[in-house]
Amino acid sequence: MDDKLKIVEQLLKKYKQEHLLNFYNEISETEKNILINQILDIDFENICKLYKDSKETKNSSNIEISPLQHIEKNKLSNTEINYYTEIGETIIHNHQIAVVTMAGGQGTRLGYKGPKGTYMLNLKPFKKSLFQIIAENIIETNTKYKTCIPWYIMTSEENNKQTQDFFEINDFFDYPKEKIKFFIQDKLPIIDINGKLILQEPYLIKEASNGNGNVFRAMQKAQILDELRNNGIKWICFGGIDNVLLKNVDPLFLGLTIYNNMKIGSKSIFKKEPLEKTAIYCKKNGKPSILDYDEISLELSERKIRNTNTYLYREANMLSHIMSLDAVYKVKDIELKYHRAFKKNAFVNFEGVKQVPDKPNTFKFENFIFDAFSYFDDMLLLRVNENEEFAPIKDFTGIYNPDTAIEKYNNYKNTNSVKLKK
Ligand code: UTP
Repeated sequence: MDDKLKIVEQLLKKYKQEHLLNFYNEISETEKNILINQILDIDFENICKLYKDSKETKNSSNIEISPLQHIEKNKLSNTEINYYTEIGETIIHNHQIAVVTMAGGQGTRLGYKGPKGTYMLNLKPFKKSLFQIIAENIIETNTKYKTCIPWYIMTSEENNKQTQDFFEINDFFDYPKEKIKFFIQDKLPIIDINGKLILQEPYLIKEASNGNGNVFRAMQKAQILDELRNNGIKWICFGGIDNVLLKNVDPLFLGLTIYNNMKIGSKSIFKKEPLEKTAIYCKKNGKPSILDYDEISLELSERKIRNTNTYLYREANMLSHIMSLDAVYKVKDIELKYHRAFKKNAFVNFEGVKQVPDKPNTFKFENFIFDAFSYFDDMLLLRVNENEEFAPIKDFTGIYNPDTAIEKYNNYKNTNSVKLKK
């Protein structure tokens, strides 16, 4: 132990993280072991580099931005919709599709204790969790197409146990248990504004999931990709946990992607306000990409196709993607870039007292799934109607809060049941 401690002290000194041993003399032997082993497992070189690089301003002068073509669902005729939908339905009928729900996030903006998927939405007559809403949506597809789609759920070390327990307690929401598989994504230490790692407990360094873009690696690590291939799966639908109107499997979207000979597809919603803080689809140096809101000028946002009313840069990302299994194999080993997010994380202060901040205080480094799309020449982009497909829950006070989500969810369900009765 003494030898290990010496190595750890040297390591921490090298990376100016000596504070991590502040409480070493006060913790138990077991806790000492946990802390020492955790420190030896952390790649300090990498995390310090991520922190340093993220402070440098982005140089976008040599990036050429061009629009990414999109299709508007509203403009498709019924004949077209039926035609493409049938193509997608064949894939579903043939059991060639799987769903991946990315539920490894921290949900710091919502600030709800527990995995975000376990958040109960106050629906009438019964409350429903976000996980239940997703399960019901996939079950609807299963029933319609007489199939049972394999459902993969990405969790993090922080929330995996609670997530799995929640499924057990709720009888897997009537989803066939053997068709659900959980897999855990990678993690990275959280850093404070001075570049210091933080303690979550006197003996534990705070680490959190490293972004939804880790999904490909995590699937590969859990041997899910080979399992999918062996089971004849050809397409994967990727979605998040917090959009209560997400169509997890959409045959039209799938059919359009296949018909257009694309390996990947994303759905977008129209960004109404030019300077709204949402990322939008574009091409960067000719490859499908995303422009962060801080990269978008008013002028770019207002640009239209000449002599038309069609905006070129208003297709907002709504975290609904499909990829062929081949496409996922192509990107599974690629090191996607890291983005820096500023988030609220509780920490143990210098006096050993746990502090829960009321505003963001730490940096989290995250890969984003859409960065993988730049490894393809083109992709399908389908603009859908926000009222039908986009009602996320992000926090309690902004435009995407539980009440707005409930309202949109109820409106959609009511309109749809009226349509079905007709
Ligand atoms: P968000 O960007 O909304 O992040 O994730 P978040 O962590 O859930 O919430 P905040 O930003 O801390 O408030 C979009 C989707 O990506 C998943 C989330 O679970 C959500 O479904 N995600 C995010 C992961 O699966 N892993 C991550 O590391 C981050």
